[in-house]
Amino acid sequence: MSESFAAPRPSRGAPPFSTPGDPASDIQEILFSQEQITRRVGELGAAITRDYAGRAPLFVSVLKGAVFFLTDLTRALRLPVEIDFMAITSYGRARAQSGVVRLIKDLDVEITGRNVVLVEDIIDTGLTAGYLLRLLQARSPASLRICTLLDRPYRRILETLDIAYRGFEVPDRFLVGYGLDYRERYRHLPFIGMLKNEVLAAEAQPDAALAADADA
Ligand code: IMP
Ligand code: MG
Repeated sequence: MSESFAAPRPSRGAPPFSTPGDPASDIQEILFSQEQITRRVGELGAAITRDYAGRAPLFVSVLKGAVFFLTDLTRALRLPVEIDFMAITSYGRARAQSGVVRLIKDLDVEITGRNVVLVEDIIDTGLTAGYLLRLLQARSPASLRICTLLDRPYRRILETLDIAYRGFEVPDRFLVGYGLDYRERYRHLPFIGMLKNEVLAAEAQPDAALAADADA
């Protein structure tokens, strides 16, 4: 775990940022531009359109991080699609060790016999996705695959995770934008980038990286 990655995610009750300026000015480096993301999402959409021809898949996302990717991805599909959402909250440190999360909003639709695609913003340790896969698999979908925009394999704990569609492999640095947040901020940035060290350092708390990550 790099220094920059360990730094983010202070405790939940921390006060909001004091600077109301342009959030983009907190970005040190853009990793993927809006154009690069659009192009890659289009390629993933084309692959999924080919693979699911003749079927009407259900795209399932966890609130809130993956919503930006899900809405762009589904608009790149030439298929009849449905979308649905889950919301989870973690058991603090327990999640870092087991991936066990508490479901605070379940899907609205039944998935038995459906072709389900779990859409993720980023797969890091893989524990959350692994937990959700087990939960969904128990409902006997016809098929179940993962589509993630970002994949950070270096921190993977669940080695067996099978990722059918992946946008980009990313380094061991904490990222924001295009759905990814730091303390609920920066999700709306149209690109994906790294925060300036001073933004993270100002808020740093030990061991905060995963334990305080209450939503996805
Ligand atoms: P994991 O795969 O169970 O470790 O958790 C993945 C979740 O952690 C993602 O859905 C995000 O909510 C969060 N996450 C992981 N890495 C980052 C990051 O670099 N920026 C923002 N959120 C992240
Ligand atoms: Mg997520």
